[in-house]
Amino acid sequence: MTTGSEAPWWKTGIFYEIYTLSYQDQDGDGFGDLPGILRRLDHLRRFNATGIWLTPFYPSPLRDFGYDVADYTAIHPRFGTFEDFDRLLAALHAQGMKLILDFVANHTSDQHPWFQESRGSRHHPKRDWYIWRDPAPDGGPPNNWLSFFGGPAWTLDEKTGQYYLHQFTRWQPELNYRNPEVLQAILDCMHFWLRRGVDGFRVDVLWLLMKDPEFRDEPENPDWDGRNPHERLRHIHTGNLPEVHRLARAMRAVVDAYENRVLIGETHVPVEDLVSYYGRNLDECHLPFNFGLLSLPWQAQAVRSFVERYEAALPIGAWPNWVLGNHDQPRLASRLGTAQVRVAAMLLLTLRGTPTWYYGDEIGMENVPIPRAAVRDPQAANQPEAEVFNRDEARTPMQWDDSPNAGFAPPEATPWLPVAADHRIRNVSRQIAEPGSLLQFVLKLTALRQHSSALMLGEYASVLTEADDIFAYTRKWPGETRLVVLNFGPRAHALDFRSLGDEANILLSTRLDREGPVSLRELAVRPNEGLVLHL
Ligand code: NOJ
Repeated sequence: MTTGSEAPWWKTGIFYEIYTLSYQDQDGDGFGDLPGILRRLDHLRRFNATGIWLTPFYPSPLRDFGYDVADYTAIHPRFGTFEDFDRLLAALHAQGMKLILDFVANHTSDQHPWFQESRGSRHHPKRDWYIWRDPAPDGGPPNNWLSFFGGPAWTLDEKTGQYYLHQFTRWQPELNYRNPEVLQAILDCMHFWLRRGVDGFRVDVLWLLMKDPEFRDEPENPDWDGRNPHERLRHIHTGNLPEVHRLARAMRAVVDAYENRVLIGETHVPVEDLVSYYGRNLDECHLPFNFGLLSLPWQAQAVRSFVERYEAALPIGAWPNWVLGNHDQPRLASRLGTAQVRVAAMLLLTLRGTPTWYYGDEIGMENVPIPRAAVRDPQAANQPEAEVFNRDEARTPMQWDDSPNAGFAPPEATPWLPVAADHRIRNVSRQIAEPGSLLQFVLKLTALRQHSSALMLGEYASVLTEADDIFAYTRKWPGETRLVVLNFGPRAHALDFRSLGDEANILLSTRLDREGPVSLRELAVRPNEGLVLHL
């Protein structure tokens, strides 16, 4: 039998996102740190995680919790030192794991020396490193562009009398990639980390890097539902501009100058555009993040048709990927309800393509309500009247055990966000010891996947059934076929899979209570159950 061993790690592996601030606080300041992650390596290993993606740990005023970078080639003392970093990287590598950095290329912090110089005077050579415009004739912002975090995307710099662009907080001025020096400076920073040994980057808001050179107003969005003010306009002049691809190619060329590295893009665009971020010659992202599963209605046929649409749109040779959660989205368990979490996990880990897992979803962590006065997320804090998600709710400390700070921080520390009250019953220690727990299930599932060439690399084909609530598919690799059957609904079904054979073996049920031979003539699937079978 062929094995998948010659395939690159970023195709066969599982990515695991750590929200650095919330994984493990080792020094007791209430913020997660690099030594903390090192301490939790066992968890990552037993999860079968391959690519560990860390959210930003660079020097930063933390206005957007690290996505406001004041120095791209240093480490915030709150998170650790270069020694800590090197130790973590070496330990990950020693265990066959990889480290992916979050690279925030679109904007810096207003405290970055580049911006300090740029705002110093209209004539400074770095003025043009950021996007500066004169006020409109009435003194207001130069056009109608909006910030994702509420209000205009422009702030007036009183001293020099011009506005600068920021699509997030006003402390995150945007770089001007029409100036070639900017791209070069950013690529140099990527070289810095690649030389240090990191295995790749997740490029923040890749699709936003270029803006309309004429700064035209954006049109109203006729489909706006009145909830999120940013969606009032159609972002045709600030997102997904064709020139972005040149930047993606330049970043990919840097990554390709080193062996075995990966370039991942944050790409919030429709599928048909998403696939363009692989590059015409597969010379852009290895993996442009596919966020499709985050916004679909959770229905078997809706998910099936999306999977088919995505599979069909992929360029030849492009490798798919799937995301179920991240630090900007409501928690998986809160979004889908506990009954469907296992089905969703089984889907993510058996579809064709590299899965990305969000920390804490393996124990079913839920959105944690935060009192209004305590909200830290600028997206929610800046627009209290709008219906936008408070991302704090999905960023609370990892629940390791039932001790006062859930094992995230020493008991006397004050965590930067509240620890969920349910940590006393929902935590890693407890679920590790509990047969049938969600964590037990997820660990079995990741192990099953990582031992199966069919699940890691095999071809995908949908298998149609009569039941609307069922999504079934096969994954085929020479000598090995797997059938995945997922029940998205609360009813039991008896399914006829005779076209695939008479019998099969159940390898894993979401309920962890059955294995072994079953008939394919009338396969009984229980409510909310998922199965992986060996054909
Ligand atoms: C996307 C990141 O995922 C999000 O957390 C951040 O606020 C924005 N980009 C701005 O960097």
